Amino acid sequence: MINNINTITLLFISCILCDNIFNTSIGTEEITYASSKGIQDFSQILKEKFVTNNSETTAASASSGTEVDIDELRENIRDIGYYLRSHKFNEYDRRYETNSTTAERIYFKTFPRPPLRSLHWEVHKYCESSFMECVNYLAKKLRGVAARRTDDTSIVMMKQHWKWKTNTAQIEQVDEECKKNKKLDDHIADPFEGPLERYQWRVTASYFMCWYTMKKTPELKRFHEKCDNFANCLDYNYGPYNDDARVDDLFDFSCALYSFCPNPCCPLKYANMMNDCLNSPENPCYRQNNVGQRACEADLEQNSEFRCICHWGYIWDEDSRECLSSMALSALKLKRKEKTKIEMMKLTLWEKIKNIIFWRKGSSSN
Ligand SMILES: *[C@@H]1O[C@H](CO)[C@@H](O)[C@H](O)[C@H]1NC(C)=O
Ligand SMILES: *[C@@H]1O[C@H](CO)[C@@H](O)[C@H](O)[C@H]1NC(C)=O
Ligand SMILES: *[C@@H]1O[C@H](CO)[C@@H](O)[C@H](O)[C@H]1NC(C)=O
Repeated sequence: MINNINTITLLFISCILCDNIFNTSIGTEEITYASSKGIQDFSQILKEKFVTNNSETTAASASSGTEVDIDELRENIRDIGYYLRSHKFNEYDRRYETNSTTAERIYFKTFPRPPLRSLHWEVHKYCESSFMECVNYLAKKLRGVAARRTDDTSIVMMKQHWKWKTNTAQIEQVDEECKKNKKLDDHIADPFEGPLERYQWRVTASYFMCWYTMKKTPELKRFHEKCDNFANCLDYNYGPYNDDARVDDLFDFSCALYSFCPNPCCPLKYANMMNDCLNSPENPCYRQNNVGQRACEADLEQNSEFRCICHWGYIWDEDSRECLSSMALSALKLKRKEKTKIEMMKLTLWEKIKNIIFWRKGSSSN
């Protein structure tokens, strides 16, 4: 199915089509549709495109064969959403950054660059085989982390209907515990081998969960819970819900997109209303377009196959991650072949012997 998701995922970003501008989208009809949150609302566009009947959800669950405990499945999805949101909004590049204070936190707008050298093997194994196996595996693993969704201050406040004024002491107590657990996760990162493995795990999990979202996996339509938080204990600027204009569980796949996918079209950590996205210089459609024509869309359909369509006559090259003309590509391949040949010749005699021994060992154990 997916041979090299690293490469392909990078593509996915470059394939989120922002040149697909909605020329007519800010007309009066659209404004009347708009939700209470803003004038031009992408989730409205998403909703129109992807609104589907509920019967589909049940059909999909049934089609997976075995009886699925729907409550458990939903809880699992919420847990995974929480932990990957925590990554999306708060994590930095553990591979290169040495100072966590100054490190950039930008995974709300892009997947890591450069992409992972290799996927987390276990996530890859389970998530490639099926959506259900993926969710079950990820959720099971998350039962071992310190910072669990159900202990997060925002979630506790929501479930207990706590208000800042009347429950200050309780909130502060829960929040202190929450922050302690976050710290444990950031430094020790059980059940992972450490923060670096956790990083690789979460990036890989985001790739797959975002991909399942792009494929409109019906189970991901709703979280059945508010998800508009940064999954980082209580945020004293925004409170337990940030009310971001881009996310509302009433819209199909809204929470899934918000939790699993970066948003290159609206590369802001927080958007109070959709116009913040449209008129932000960070919006990739901003520069060439006038006010009223800056809508940028993550096209789920275009992205569901995780591949980039090169212009006619060009071929995708996995190594350079570019569309190359077929002539350029054959030249490049020839050059690479030569290079590996030379590298082989450079091996010392001992390395050659070692290769043979290990090769024998490897093949005899099969
Ligand atoms: C956008 O709409 C305007 C006015 O309706 C029209 O003149 C223009 O050609 C359209 N642009 C594109 C790219 O379709
Ligand atoms: C949803 O179901 C209703 C009635 O069953 C049908 O009229 C409508 O066209 C369906 N909508 C979609 C998007 O399939
Ligand atoms: C990280 O950067 C901050 C701000 O520049 C500095 O105060 C701190 O000492 C740095 N920490 C480390 C471990 O280098």
